[in-house]
Amino acid sequence: MTDTYYITTAIDYANAPPHLGHAYEKIAADCLARYHRLQYGADNVFFLTGTDEHGLKIERKAKEAGVSPQEFVDQMAGAFQAAWAALGISYSRFIRTTEAAHREQVQQIFARLIAQGDVVKARYEGWYCSGCEEFKAERDLLEGRVCPNHERPAEWTSEENYVFDMARYRDRLRARIESDPHFVQPEFRRKEVLNLLEGFPNLSVSRQSVKWGIPVPGDPEHVVYVWIDALSNYLTGIGYGRDEAMFSHWWPADVHLVGKDISKFHAILWPAILMALDLPLPRQIFVHGFVLLDAGKMSKSTGNVVDPLGLAEKYGPDPIRYYLLREVNFGRDGDFTYEAFEKRVNADLANNLGNALNRILTFAERHFENRVSRPATEPSEAIGALAAAAGLARERFVAAMEAVALHEALAAAWELLDELNMFVDRQAPWSLAKQEDKTPLQHVVWSVLETLRVVAIMVWPTVPSLAARIWEQLGTEGELLAERTDRRWEHTCWGADPGTAPGTSHPAADRTFVTRKTGPVYLRIGTEIVGKAGKH
Ligand code: MSP
Repeated sequence: MTDTYYITTAIDYANAPPHLGHAYEKIAADCLARYHRLQYGADNVFFLTGTDEHGLKIERKAKEAGVSPQEFVDQMAGAFQAAWAALGISYSRFIRTTEAAHREQVQQIFARLIAQGDVVKARYEGWYCSGCEEFKAERDLLEGRVCPNHERPAEWTSEENYVFDMARYRDRLRARIESDPHFVQPEFRRKEVLNLLEGFPNLSVSRQSVKWGIPVPGDPEHVVYVWIDALSNYLTGIGYGRDEAMFSHWWPADVHLVGKDISKFHAILWPAILMALDLPLPRQIFVHGFVLLDAGKMSKSTGNVVDPLGLAEKYGPDPIRYYLLREVNFGRDGDFTYEAFEKRVNADLANNLGNALNRILTFAERHFENRVSRPATEPSEAIGALAAAAGLARERFVAAMEAVALHEALAAAWELLDELNMFVDRQAPWSLAKQEDKTPLQHVVWSVLETLRVVAIMVWPTVPSLAARIWEQLGTEGELLAERTDRRWEHTCWGADPGTAPGTSHPAADRTFVTRKTGPVYLRIGTEIVGKAGKH
């Protein structure tokens, strides 16, 4: 059986255009999806994202904008799709919760929960925050019953509602979280979720005051709670209830990637619903941190936002992808500042990566007429050491990706680039070029090109456009474009012919590079450009 990989992101509220925090999550998911395409083949990966389009908040926003809720979410979904296109997010499917097929399946799911007695009708009262779309305990509110997340008062709501009987599943869920450390990650979030589980209430899962939603089957005065509606996208997005073959091919999800503010819905409510539906649980819920803007919280209500589309249009998709994945310790919070952004991008993309390629292409052009094949003679010890460093980087990269430590995977790739640049400095090809015998020079140039070939595949999940630009200039076999590649992870073996059966030693490849210098891989960001971007 082939391995498959199904990854999801949270579906974003379609109440305002995307900000950098939304982009961060999609970029991380895209990096994981692309890495798994290298591992398993493109056809064996499914990457689901989309927009969460129902609820009070959206109903009100549409009213303010003077358009119907449907028109409003159509515009917003378009804004999210445009931003993801600009950032190179290679999702398999973009689900919208207003799609007819989704709505229909959510009703079926809800009807089943009622029929089984998991959901029962009861009076439900409490302080409701429409920002969070949830009832709040008084102890979770600030003075004046202000929601700490949205900085506005919660509203007293008393309704006859449908309530989900959480108690039925609490023990089973606790056992799973305790016995399977992989299930909720990072570890500190797992502990947090275990604590939350104890006091997790029976949850109201319908709303009477909200019109913009999916009607409860047989009781159209009520709409299904937006969280039940939204969470169900992970099932309906892969054909649940409509296409059994497709659904069973992908489910259970390998990972739900979500932010820390919604971990309880994913690690508590969602598994309980899945248990009620008699479905296997996702293999992992990975909880990422927040990206803070100049150390302040980024949110629409405070106006403190960075427009990811603007950044991608100005600098291309890769700098922001690289910066966020490299700079933020994945799972923890991180900062975005223009100063740090510029520094990282110039040092790592323009200098480290760009220079390594440009320098060597010049030698390939001048001394080998752009055709560099591997010399038949034994390589030097230094080349052996470079090959070993590439092998080690590859192992570190895999281990980090398996642990969803994206920043560490990138560190492994960029440390290899450091080694490569030091190798060039020490080997001094400019001196070798003066020798009559060009074989030592050819060894060095070939080895640098070979290392860059390995690096291009390794960094493709993170900086796909730059990787494609390197690939094009290396002139080596196989296709590697920003949007797709036929290269696989086994092609990252340095100096080896790919396609060798696993476990056997790789014979040395007699690969020839037909290089083509078409210009710098990435231009430095100049201070004047950053100046124009302004400080948001
Ligand atoms: N619609 C719900 C999710 C339903 S999933 C079944 C929602 N939407 S959201 O638009 O508020 O957030 C979408 C995702 O973006 C969440 O995972 C959230 O944690 C993440 N982020 C929102 N702001 C963020 C940052 N500043 N930084 C990083 N991620 C952040 O919640």
